[in-house]
Amino acid sequence: MITVKELTKRYARNTAVDHISFEVQKGQIVGFLGPNGAGKTTTMRMLTCFLPPTAGGATVAGFDVLEQPLEVKKRIGYLPESPPLYPEMETGEYLSFVGKLKGLSGAELGKQVDYVCERCAVADVKNKLLGKLSKGYRQRVGLAQAIIHNPDVLILDEPTAGLDPKQINETRELIKGLAGDHTIILSTHILPEVEQTCEQVIIINKGKLVATDSVHNLQNRARGAETVLVEIAGRNGSLEMVAVQSRLQQIAGVSRVQFKTSHGNRNVFEIESQKGFVRGDLARAVVEAGWDLNELRPAAMSLEEIFLQLTGSEAPTEQAATKGAQ
Ligand SMILES: Nc1ncnc2c1ncn2[C@@H]1O[C@H](COP(=O)(O)OP(=O)(O)OP(=O)(O)O)[C@@H](O)[C@H]1O
Ligand SMILES: [Mg+2]
Repeated sequence: MITVKELTKRYARNTAVDHISFEVQKGQIVGFLGPNGAGKTTTMRMLTCFLPPTAGGATVAGFDVLEQPLEVKKRIGYLPESPPLYPEMETGEYLSFVGKLKGLSGAELGKQVDYVCERCAVADVKNKLLGKLSKGYRQRVGLAQAIIHNPDVLILDEPTAGLDPKQINETRELIKGLAGDHTIILSTHILPEVEQTCEQVIIINKGKLVATDSVHNLQNRARGAETVLVEIAGRNGSLEMVAVQSRLQQIAGVSRVQFKTSHGNRNVFEIESQKGFVRGDLARAVVEAGWDLNELRPAAMSLEEIFLQLTGSEAPTEQAATKGAQ
């Protein structure tokens, strides 16, 4: 549905987007992730034909963003970082205005306005001035205007920025509900949001693509090594930590053994190893040493750890995520 090839945007002093390529399949919901200034908004503006690329290009639903911008715009709904809402217009009036701009008219226009008001839960403020709406409602009206012409593709630039936790949940649910009917790219600073909402992740840093994969695969391949958590108990109640550590360290392929937690007689160690490491060796070593092996499981890496590893930057915080509110 979306194909991006070597997309590049250079400004006088810096390259905001640097030869990025990725594809998004129909009906997918993709998280676009990156620290501040990574180039997310710039990429989205190019995809929505608001900004011409310096080099490279993209197609949306088969249409070229440079050559056929009108066709692209017909098929895209865009929620910019700050939705362009006219404060002196009422919600319903504004949505009809946007609908007309997108080529709707007559009964169809009325039907679509009612539909998006219902879908985005703004029907109760239909006759209220936009300037008097709360941030959460404004964001929902922003989403409503993005879907008014039932576009194939939705490009949402930080749709939950500046919302309170309840509104964030409602907006996430709303976006999830829209997936399937629409192909969605959403940018965010909130990593759990991507884990909860998205199937695919695109991570960019300093204008460059650093990863594009499913959330699941990213977690699996993030380290060139395998990390497992093993819970061990001593038979007679006590366990010599140092002995466990040195025993496990001796297993071929193990590169690091770290004590994690202890609950009574149950002790959890994290074991990092080279790829291809056999968990059987680990289990055998524990049993042969006369300890009880309570549990052996792969340690899933959080998206936050992956993000840090890939971008070498500070993990985005909820605080950074609310910057849009100011
Ligand atoms: N009009 C412009 N002129 C010059 N540089 C720009 C312009 N717009 C953006 N940039 C630069 O391009 C880079 C990418 O900016 P962009 O807004 O795309 O980042 P972002 O990933 O959306 O960041 P944020 O998370 O803060 O929204 C930044 O270094 C920014 O300063
Ligand atoms: Mg941005």
